[in-house]
Amino acid sequence: MPNGILVTGGAGYIGSHVVQQLGEAGERVVTLDNLCTGFAEAVTHGELVVGDTGDRELVAKILAEHDIDTIMHFAAHTIVPESVADPLKYYRNNTCSTRNLLQCAAEAGVKHIVFSSTAAVYGIPAGGVAREDSPNAPINPYGTSKLMSEWMLRDLAAAGGPSYVALRYFNVAGSDPEGRIGQSTPKATLLVKVGAEVATGKREALTIFGTDYDTPDGTGVRDYIHVEDLAAAHLDALAWLRAGGESQVLNCGYGHGYSVREVVQAFERVTGQPLPVREAERRAGDPPSLVADAARIRELFGWTPKHDDLDGIVASSLAWERTPRYGA
Ligand code: UD1
Repeated sequence: MPNGILVTGGAGYIGSHVVQQLGEAGERVVTLDNLCTGFAEAVTHGELVVGDTGDRELVAKILAEHDIDTIMHFAAHTIVPESVADPLKYYRNNTCSTRNLLQCAAEAGVKHIVFSSTAAVYGIPAGGVAREDSPNAPINPYGTSKLMSEWMLRDLAAAGGPSYVALRYFNVAGSDPEGRIGQSTPKATLLVKVGAEVATGKREALTIFGTDYDTPDGTGVRDYIHVEDLAAAHLDALAWLRAGGESQVLNCGYGHGYSVREVVQAFERVTGQPLPVREAERRAGDPPSLVADAARIRELFGWTPKHDDLDGIVASSLAWERTPRYGA
């Protein structure tokens, strides 16, 4: 029997896509999720334990009982504006819980960790493009909470703890092409998700936050990546670590950006209908432009995206929004 993989947050949007790919690859997976934003139905493989990543007794028990040698850690709060309004919620759940998890991992002799980090650690990179060695200067508590976790991983690995890959995600969207799982996160704030809700009549209009940025059309520019490609990068990271690869911090994006208006246009192309929008002030904590320099992950892992196409990403998000299997 292969060693087990503990996936925290495996009932959430990104975690569930990774659990599915791991399960399909024949890995033995256990999900730990408190279901505060996740869905039990999203866990398509292995056992689901309902509980908190910060619960050390529970985590220690799972690590021992399931013979876990790798942890993939997704459990976190992820809403930037909320992190600005309630920073301590983010430091507790994203930073303190990670510390608890790492303590258990170290005590149980876990070998590898794959960590869900974020492009938000860069803040406002020069020229809007971030390389892994660009300065870390988060402009919101969400980014800071994740950066502190990266530092704990680095220092623990240096002290003989688990080797790790921290993947810095850019803007994730889309869903399982077979429609089994998707993004049903309540009170969504992410652009493509909100756009899909508007296009399916669940919201009246999409609000464009800021039209006066120093970008080609004045709206925010991001690097949108399909969740299936992102999930595949986690399996590549696992293979890397198992082969004895050194710990890494890697960007996970496609390396090109689209503005909010370009995303709106993609919805209009895909649906053949106008997407109702309203213009509003900038949103707190938003950088003007954030695009990955994504050369390193391709070079190191041979990671090859299969869904690098904005219209395809939008169509995939829309498909789930029209026929979700769970959630709204
Ligand atoms: C942020 C984080 C990202 C994290 C994600 C998870 C930063 C820079 N990025 O992405 O790392 O994984 O949250 O939540 O902190 N927009 C609108 N109207 C909307 C929604 C969004 O105009 O209704 C605009 C935003 O102003 C932004 C772009 O669309 O320019 C993307 O926003 P969003 O989808 O919320 O993601 P980020 O905030 O970029």
